[in-house]
Amino acid sequence: MHTETLLAHAARTTARAVQSVNPPLVRTSTVVFDTLQAYQQAQRGLVFDAPRYGRSGTATTFELQRAMATLAGAQGCIATGCGLAAIVAVLAAHAGPGRHVLLSEGVYGPTRAFCEQDIAAAGTHIDFFPHGADIAPYLRDDTSLVFVETPASLTMEMLDVRAVCAAAHRRGIPVAADATWGTPVFFDAHALGIDLSVHAATKFINGHSDVMLGLVTGSLDALAPVRAWCDRAGTHAAPDACWLAMRGLRTLAIRLQRHQASALAVAHWLQSHPRVRRVRFPALPGDPGHALWRAQFSGAAGPFTFDLAPCSERAFARFIESLALFSLGTSWGGFESLVMPAVPHLLRAHAAPAHAARLVRLHIGLEHPDDLCADLAAALATSADDDA
Ligand SMILES: Cc1ncc(COP(=O)(O)O)c(C=O)c1O
Repeated sequence: MHTETLLAHAARTTARAVQSVNPPLVRTSTVVFDTLQAYQQAQRGLVFDAPRYGRSGTATTFELQRAMATLAGAQGCIATGCGLAAIVAVLAAHAGPGRHVLLSEGVYGPTRAFCEQDIAAAGTHIDFFPHGADIAPYLRDDTSLVFVETPASLTMEMLDVRAVCAAAHRRGIPVAADATWGTPVFFDAHALGIDLSVHAATKFINGHSDVMLGLVTGSLDALAPVRAWCDRAGTHAAPDACWLAMRGLRTLAIRLQRHQASALAVAHWLQSHPRVRRVRFPALPGDPGHALWRAQFSGAAGPFTFDLAPCSERAFARFIESLALFSLGTSWGGFESLVMPAVPHLLRAHAAPAHAARLVRLHIGLEHPDDLCADLAAALATSADDDA
């Protein structure tokens, strides 16, 4: 079955019971049982996606989890309150005194902050490896998890997921990936060897900029410590968010095709603009990560980053604020185009390079790409005037 067909038909089991095409939104705190035996079985939590108590999910949650697991080619899925909560659950489930967690250098800023400020403070050793490095020398006897993100947040470097997984698995170490950028539609994380694939469903999966949600897919064995941690910490998702994300999931494959076509059109246009030094988008031939992207992804919908030639703070603000179709905001993956200044050195270990070009992160929404290019052209022209 093609992905588009799967997404249209997945998760409609509970819908049939209420003679609807959409699964009903089941909101409940209390789950009730007819027999003591059924109650006791549910409380033991042996069935992965059976209702126990509202906090661990309702029929709505389990429909989304099953749809996502099917899409990702995984045995199971766990929904959490937001993408960061999913990342935290995966990291915390593998952390602890005497354990070592290895991460790729370009992980999402709050992922690094949680490691440095929380799990490290609680006795877990953490290390970061540069994208492109052989991870074998970084692995230790006490390494409990390798966590990667590809491409890197903001700077967009790729890494060889197969090589990372092979090196970690040789030593029996699981690998988790923040796979938000690719989604399961463009990035078959589990086929490449990833054990736990983490998604901020807040982004493309929901796609309508009105939900916070995280999803983790994997085998039931790989998910077991994450599920147990979510049960202890109470970080499962609300059914309302799952219901909305299910609606987003129906059109994910179609939306991604349009996001991809428009992102490529805008990226190509930017490449030929005299004030643009470089466009960082692995889907572009000539990008240093292009070969790895081709080998590991079947598409790319962005977001991407570009290096604007050095300019004054005033001219930079003028550029951002003159954009009419790109709103200034930190998210991405929704129907609307967004812009934000990318400041990776604030998130990484290294200092800001002197006289650095200014990095701009764009999410290309569902507007017509010609209108978006015209908007960028006008804002660049306005800010150039300002600089003169
Ligand atoms: C790559 C990546 N992972 C995770 C997250 C966190 O997701 P959420 O905002 O749903 O917590 C984000 C948010 O921007 C992100 O860009």
